[in-house]
Amino acid sequence: MRQTLVAGNWKMNGSREGNRRLLDGIKAGISEGVNAEVVVCPPAIYIPQAARRLNESGIAWGGQDLSQHESGAYTGEISAAMLWDYQCKYVIIGHSERRSLHAETDAQVAEKFIAAQKTGLTPILCIGELLTEREAGETEAVVARQLDAVIDAAGIEAIAGCVIAYEPVWAIGTGKTASPQQAQDVHAFIRQRVAAQNVDVAEKVRILYGGSVKPDNAAELFAKADIDGGLIGGASLDAEGFLAICRAV
Ligand code: PGA
Repeated sequence: MRQTLVAGNWKMNGSREGNRRLLDGIKAGISEGVNAEVVVCPPAIYIPQAARRLNESGIAWGGQDLSQHESGAYTGEISAAMLWDYQCKYVIIGHSERRSLHAETDAQVAEKFIAAQKTGLTPILCIGELLTEREAGETEAVVARQLDAVIDAAGIEAIAGCVIAYEPVWAIGTGKTASPQQAQDVHAFIRQRVAAQNVDVAEKVRILYGGSVKPDNAAELFAKADIDGGLIGGASLDAEGFLAICRAV
């Protein structure tokens, strides 16, 4: 049985004082017990704060992005080893905002994936289609292309050690959630695509849904056979809301 993962993607939100309340609120709620693995991904500058406050809480923390390079003249970038230095367990890779706002290509995403795993980090690999692609009936082709770029570069076994997040771009931050069945259909497609190469890996890999997950829709999404948790943006910025999603497992 795959353990459900609930991951909070804070994006470029928060402040030192606000994070203190948010982290302590999540920590207090989780200590009452939830049936999921929980991870928060703050902006990089706040990772040391998360590491300090979440130490021995059972909650993991991670980065929102990393450089594919190990070190060197890459101003503004953060390496896998730097995330590892602050005990990050996870790192989000290929988020649609990185792909669209920073022109990250499938090939770069694959390089980042490899850099993360080489250091011991677990990649949360984001894939998902634009609204125009869904309307053109290209959803499966798009997620297959994004997934295959990583499988071809890293090998199918590497997928066992990652988390996949299906995030339809039209549902991110829009309040328009994919219906549980729409999400399940794509999750099943992703799992079958992995299974075509390795059945064991397909059974093990966790596939999260992301895109306007809220306390009132989480339970129905998480109940689907191939949905193993969620990548939560906006709703992870409020301790009570995030905890309600964690409890929906
Ligand atoms: P959202 O973001 O929950 O605010 O839609 C999800 C994400 O971008 O990971």
